[in-house]
Amino acid sequence: MEFIKLEKEGGVGILTIDRQPALNALNKQVLEELSAALDQVAQDKEVKALIITGAGEKAFVAGADIGVMQPMSVAEGRDWALLGQKVFMKIEELPHPVIAAVNGFALGGGCELALACDIRIASDRAKLGQPEVTLGITPGYAGSQRLPRVVGPSWAKQMIFTGDIIDAATAEKIGLVNTVVPAADLMARAKELAARIASRAPVAVQLSKVAINKGLATGIHTGGAFEAEVFGECFATADQKEGMKAFLEKRKPVFTGK
Ligand code: CAA
Repeated sequence: MEFIKLEKEGGVGILTIDRQPALNALNKQVLEELSAALDQVAQDKEVKALIITGAGEKAFVAGADIGVMQPMSVAEGRDWALLGQKVFMKIEELPHPVIAAVNGFALGGGCELALACDIRIASDRAKLGQPEVTLGITPGYAGSQRLPRVVGPSWAKQMIFTGDIIDAATAEKIGLVNTVVPAADLMARAKELAARIASRAPVAVQLSKVAINKGLATGIHTGGAFEAEVFGECFATADQKEGMKAFLEKRKPVFTGK
């Protein structure tokens, strides 16, 4: 792969988008490589949590590639949006929890990429926004759908209608990112959080992710019924027996992922 680097540290996968001359902007090849890397992670039994970040000091991802989009027709524009949406849906549907380590500009498709992740941690130098209307387009990689789900419709509409770029402190205030940390600490803090998640019972973590997403997509009744199903499924796992036995024996559990 030319633009995606995939590494593993213990149970944590680290996926870096590296197209620094264009501030890691997403062209077709980057999207296709990202898609292939996500397929690889999905199959990897060793990985329990994934971090997605951008290479370099300046950008997480500065958006979809504007040079590629400028001459597009109506059909090409629609297909371009569908391609990005399909790849980002793989992140939402990846069994593993995914943390975006937002190290710089996360604009347009870059903000949408962070939104497709489960958790966002930002460097104090990060800047986020959906500046599409300044280019004559709407968000295309599901920003109009995920941003209001994350920050509520009011802030989402303000961000999308103005195209304004916000700083990390504002992003934290409105709940777009969970935490802001000094730039130098970003990866250490993201790894620490990923490792903590990776230490929990993996099947329970994965089923929790599916239940949360299912409920957000379908509402509390369907989501609640689904939660009861997966809660029941946990009792078929060795990790449920071990987790509760360890509690009763006042020791730390040893989870096997089974
Ligand atoms: N597409 C293509 N190239 C991009 C890019 C993008 N989204 N963002 C930055 N670049 C390129 C620049 O063209 C420049 O290339 P050259 O050196 O060859 O000229 C290089 O990256 C460095 O960028 P700048 O010189 O502009 O750096 P800066 O520090 O002056 O500004 C910035 C940084 C504010 C992020 C600015 O680059 C910028 O505004 N980028 C565009 C951000 C944007 O509008 N993103 C949304 C795209 S639309 C979208 O993503 C739609 C969707 O939902 C699918």
